[in-house]
Amino acid sequence: MPAELSPTDMAKSVAANRAADHVMNGMKVGLGTGSTAAWLVRRLGERVRDEGLRIRGVPTSTRTAAQAREEGIDVITLDEAGWLDLTIDGADEFDSDLTLIKGGGGAHLQEKIVARASDRMIVIADAAKKVATLGAYPLPVEVIPFGMNSTRKLIEAALAGMDVDGRETSLRMTEGAPFVTDEGNHIIDLHLERIGDAAKLAAALNQIPGVVENGLFIDMCDLVIVGHADGAVDLHQVKVDLHQVKQDSA
Ligand code: 5RP
Repeated sequence: MPAELSPTDMAKSVAANRAADHVMNGMKVGLGTGSTAAWLVRRLGERVRDEGLRIRGVPTSTRTAAQAREEGIDVITLDEAGWLDLTIDGADEFDSDLTLIKGGGGAHLQEKIVARASDRMIVIADAAKKVATLGAYPLPVEVIPFGMNSTRKLIEAALAGMDVDGRETSLRMTEGAPFVTDEGNHIIDLHLERIGDAAKLAAALNQIPGVVENGLFIDMCDLVIVGHADGAVDLHQVKVDLHQVKQDSA
């Protein structure tokens, strides 16, 4: 590990290293995208080289695919894998239900497909990603280029009926042009400030023609590992309602 890491990078690497311990020989692993996921790919590469760890990785972006190959990880497509044992990815926000906002790096479409095709999803994060209420981070919505302005108007109309505090939208730009995802689409960021009902919002957005996928990950994450600069980690899991479990099994 480089000697001079910022506290945030230290926290991200600590979370990534702990998550890498969950990866076992023979596993098919979804590899997330972003600066935290990059620490994971790096650590898995070390384990492949140093311990002879045998895994196959399914990357969630061209960036992650390139890094995984450089690290010597065996890269396969999701269709070649069929199903995954585990996906490990970063997040922009998570709440106490482990509902996530993802897509800050513009990869949430592939990330959601890969996470959904996995037995388990572990999120790795620094403490700044934990929120009481989702929505301070803009919610990314991937849209196809055709009719993008009409799609944006329909998104804004849908927001009028939603329990949110902000309704501004913006087309994500990079170097003066609309950002283009790995799938050739664009991203409209929703500046909602507070999301009152994530499930209702996600369903409404995904019903709009032209919307490919929104960045809300609901009931997908099993464990969040939060790293800290001093090397400590916190584990966040969904609380199980034991009373409900007893009733269900009665
Ligand atoms: C990419 C993502 C990332 O996981 C998310 O943006 C977090 O990134 P980082 O680890 O760099 O903070 O969803 O689409």
